[in-house]
Amino acid sequence: MPPTESGGTPAIEFRDVVKRFGDHTVLKGLNFTVSPGERVTLIGPSGSGKTTILRLIMTLESLTGGYIDVHGEPLTHEQRGGKRVALPSKRVRANTKRIGMVFQHFNLFPNMTVIENLVEAPIHVLGMAKADAVEKARGLLQKVGLSDKENEHPSRLSGGQQQRVAIARALAMDPDILLLDEVTSALDPELVDDVLQVLRDIAEETDITMLIVTHEMQFARDVSQRVMMFDGGVILEEGHPDDIFTNPREERTRKFLSAVLD
Ligand SMILES: Nc1ncnc2c1ncn2[C@@H]1O[C@H](COP(=O)(O)OP(=O)(O)O)[C@@H](O)[C@H]1O
Ligand SMILES: [Mg+2]
Repeated sequence: MPPTESGGTPAIEFRDVVKRFGDHTVLKGLNFTVSPGERVTLIGPSGSGKTTILRLIMTLESLTGGYIDVHGEPLTHEQRGGKRVALPSKRVRANTKRIGMVFQHFNLFPNMTVIENLVEAPIHVLGMAKADAVEKARGLLQKVGLSDKENEHPSRLSGGQQQRVAIARALAMDPDILLLDEVTSALDPELVDDVLQVLRDIAEETDITMLIVTHEMQFARDVSQRVMMFDGGVILEEGHPDDIFTNPREERTRKFLSAVLD
């Protein structure tokens, strides 16, 4: 595998990734790497494949062709004897334990309380003792400012609170990769800042590798080291946020940004 700019093994590597839905090819042979601890923002028009990329890493979609490696290990497929071979599902599940994802629409378990949402996977996937999982969950709820909500059901919380629970739930698994798919797009404007502040804190205090799909350009600028602009499932251009946001090379990036910033 090619080394990253810093010379180490990439946290994420896409090699010739193809994704088709029926006869619609969304990704046509996508290649990119993300370094450990790097935070990359994905921008681009609706339908350009951003969510698909995150869902492939989360293994919520199956890969049509090519390979995704995580920390140098194959995620779902590997090359063996010149052939492309799917890994057994048990190995795939083990590979995704340390990958967390937060969705636009929160996706909390509605029938569980907040604390139950947080301890479910640590207990059942990681085999954590319940007392330890609860203690950890309480620490995370404090971090996202929701200590007083641990026994509420999600439906009793605002969208912003639900999203902060969803972030805490992802962190409860000690992810080394965090995928954020438009996590503030469904929120009322006055609730956005609290959620972004939680994410800014995570960016500042941890070395979690983050792939971020967002239209919050100031946030993207503050937390990410690189922006990738997608169009039609390919990287149209990429670079430091200061360059991409103020001086994009491509006309299509310019148009996209002025539409988003309006
Ligand atoms: N489950 C699916 N079945 C069929 N087509 C899909 C599915 N998911 C996504 N697509 C299509 O793939 C393309 C990329 O979608 P998506 O990754 O959601 O883009 P983005 O997140 O950039 O808006 C779109 O044309 C979308 O309609
Ligand atoms: Mg999307």
